[in-house]
Amino acid sequence: MANIKILVGTVYGNAQDVAEMCRENLVAAGHEVSLLRQATIDEVVVDETEILLVCTSTTGQGEIPDSLLLLYCQLQDKQPDLKHVKYGLISLGDSSYDTYAEAGWLMDELFQKMEMQRIGEPLLIDACETLTPNEPAENWLVGWADSIASK
Ligand SMILES: Cc1cc2nc3c(=O)[nH]c(=O)nc-3n(C[C@H](O)[C@H](O)[C@H](O)COP(=O)(O)O)c2cc1C
Repeated sequence: MANIKILVGTVYGNAQDVAEMCRENLVAAGHEVSLLRQATIDEVVVDETEILLVCTSTTGQGEIPDSLLLLYCQLQDKQPDLKHVKYGLISLGDSSYDTYAEAGWLMDELFQKMEMQRIGEPLLIDACETLTPNEPAENWLVGWADSIASK
């Protein structure tokens, strides 16, 4: 079973709700899970970190919400060695914006640059298509949790 840290980027609470559902289901599957809102580099760059699950919305014009921005800037700045850490990505957005789900892609781009290994395909949740983001997230999480188990 893995040590998983869920990194939450939210403005209005949708991504937080999705993150809490993920935490409950992953804990039920036997993982050790912490949910970090306003995460800092010191909470992430610790020996026990094995897997990160980014769960973020996009705000402004393609921006990362404040609750995740500090970590993004710190990682971008310091580029610590997290090559051994794997990650997954849930990105909430609204496809009526040109900058659809951009915050998730910014996190993905940074993690790829840091040579971290992504588990599974990113999940994009479009506010134009669903008012209940937990539903697609719960389905996606089943496959993601299986992928963790087989790593
Ligand atoms: C002011 C504002 C700006 C937004 N900007 C974007 C954007 O640039 N790209 C995008 O894909 N979605 C954008 N969205 C949509 C949100 O990402 C989406 O509604 C999401 O579900 C909100 O999640 P949250 O409650 O966790 O913040 C924006 C929403 C608002 C209200």
